[in-house]
Amino acid sequence: SDEFEVETDIITLTRFILSTQQKVAADATGELTLLLNSLQFAFKFIANNIRKAELVNLIGLAGASNSTGDAQKKLDVIGDEIFINAMKASGNVKVLVSEEQEDLIVFDGPGNYAVVCDPIDGSSNIDAGVSVGTIFGIYKLLPGSKGSIKDVLRPGTEMVAAGYTMYGASAHLMLTTGQGVNGFTLDSSLGEFILTHPNLKIDGDKQIYSVNEGNTTYWSEPVQKFFADLKKPQENGKPYSARYIGSMVADVHRTLLYGGLFAYPADSKSKNGKLRILYECFPMAFLLEQAGGKAVTDAGERVLDLIPKAIHDRSGIWLGSEKEINKFLKAIGKDA
Ligand code: AHG
Ligand code: MN
Ligand code: MN
Ligand code: MN
Repeated sequence: SDEFEVETDIITLTRFILSTQQKVAADATGELTLLLNSLQFAFKFIANNIRKAELVNLIGLAGASNSTGDAQKKLDVIGDEIFINAMKASGNVKVLVSEEQEDLIVFDGPGNYAVVCDPIDGSSNIDAGVSVGTIFGIYKLLPGSKGSIKDVLRPGTEMVAAGYTMYGASAHLMLTTGQGVNGFTLDSSLGEFILTHPNLKIDGDKQIYSVNEGNTTYWSEPVQKFFADLKKPQENGKPYSARYIGSMVADVHRTLLYGGLFAYPADSKSKNGKLRILYECFPMAFLLEQAGGKAVTDAGERVLDLIPKAIHDRSGIWLGSEKEINKFLKAIGKDA
């Protein structure tokens, strides 16, 4: 008989978080579990809207721009509203930073966490059907804090969880709570994120670089030389291949799964780089380190050690496998 394989013991995100939280902190109050459940609801809802986007003409500019000067796409605004409402309804988020909100949001009511988010990352590509995503990071409020900007102007090393959901052919959630990286795929018939990439580690060997070469004339000399050298045959006789999607979530997702190097260097046009520290650099740096990779600034410092002065501060960022980042550190004369 053509018996077909039925997976009868799937691990949902909720089950996974419950099991890891009990392992990690005996006093786990389940609050982080509840928060991650509210987050996953937001991801499902946004995924649903992205799918419908083409149908109900959600594609296209909303006509406004946000505090970092980005032209807001309709989905940026909808994604932002969905996220704010889901965090408010969770009952355990006190502080929220969003790319699309000029100022910090402090909710009334209880809540022991501060969440930073990029509701729709890669939105400039959305009309072209390129994968976009939601990036998030979570801090526990400082002891005794009632919820203020001090809860988020902190190094990324103090984040308790971070990750992204990429809305591609299916929705992929990559999550770390500080014990490695685990990947989940949304089974929309079940409405559950299912564990599909347990304990993901970055592949150290692929020769791929991912950078916007259109910025070459604005790069410093050493950066120009670094990428020029990658185009020459390496020890294995082959030059690097270039892969750049222009949506950070998609470029980082490929880097986690295939290895290589992603960079958005600071340049003469954007002195502090383009990517925002709190809700783009920190979550991706946390994920890469937990997957066995590295994430450093243009000066070769650890990204997670940065302390933003303002909630939309930016930084240059170089992330990827340890081998690739050590190659960059050597090129700028920093010991690996
Ligand atoms: P967002 O859509 O959230 O504003 O982020 C866009 C970012 C990031 O997704 C991507 O890596 C970068 O912009 C691409 O910038 P360039 O088009 O300058 O390469
Ligand atoms: Mn934007
Ligand atoms: Mn972004
Ligand atoms: Mn965005």
